[in-house]
Amino acid sequence: MTIELAVIGGTGVYALGELADVETHQPVTPYGAPSGPVRIGTYAGKRVAFLARHGEGHSLPPHRINYRANLAALKALGATRVLALNTVGGITERFGPRVLACPDQLIDYTWGRISTLCEEPGSEVLHVDFGDPYTQALRKQVIAAAVGAGIAMAVGGCYGATQGPRLETKAEIACMRRDGCDLVGMTGMPEAGLARELGLDYACLAIVANWAAGAGPNPDEVITLQDVLDNVAAAMDDAARLLRA
Ligand code: HPA
Repeated sequence: MTIELAVIGGTGVYALGELADVETHQPVTPYGAPSGPVRIGTYAGKRVAFLARHGEGHSLPPHRINYRANLAALKALGATRVLALNTVGGITERFGPRVLACPDQLIDYTWGRISTLCEEPGSEVLHVDFGDPYTQALRKQVIAAAVGAGIAMAVGGCYGATQGPRLETKAEIACMRRDGCDLVGMTGMPEAGLARELGLDYACLAIVANWAAGAGPNPDEVITLQDVLDNVAAAMDDAARLLRA
């Protein structure tokens, strides 16, 4: 049976609460093992796959995630469309804590991650088009689902992917703002680029967990993991309603 949608959960999202009749898969791919088991089940009447990007116990930091294995595993199990949940910091005004966003652009500041399928000698060299890094048709469905379910969503915006695992300096965030970034997260790349290389439809549902360093009304506010997790938990009700829609 085809998989209608694969969902990759980010920080604070380690399971899909209402996934029913769950089968668990532990695929191994040519790139190694994914972050954890892929759970496939029924969600709002559709066949949906779920994978926790950092592992179900959040044991993998962003630079240690095997992004290639995660996406290759989902593809091998039959997924063609991936909705990535990404916990992010907000940089510009529209993107305060607990906002749900569907960005349309991306800047990659990560380094030292395997970011392509053509890493191995002898593999086919790919130069995929990446002008629009997210699949527009899937984005439109996400946005339409939000409108239909009456869920507020910040549409568009640029996601800046940083290396982490530390958070950014105020100067780095000011620099990213000048570059045109609205959101900052640590896992948006290489995932989006690899999805394109694998021919998967891919869109990002960003959950804003905090104001990025120096970006909010109180520029000296310290960002704590507890704030991040509390804000993600608070936004998850709407995010789950959106997924169901
Ligand atoms: N920066 C980078 N990644 C994040 C942040 C942040 O402020 N918040 C949640 N993920």
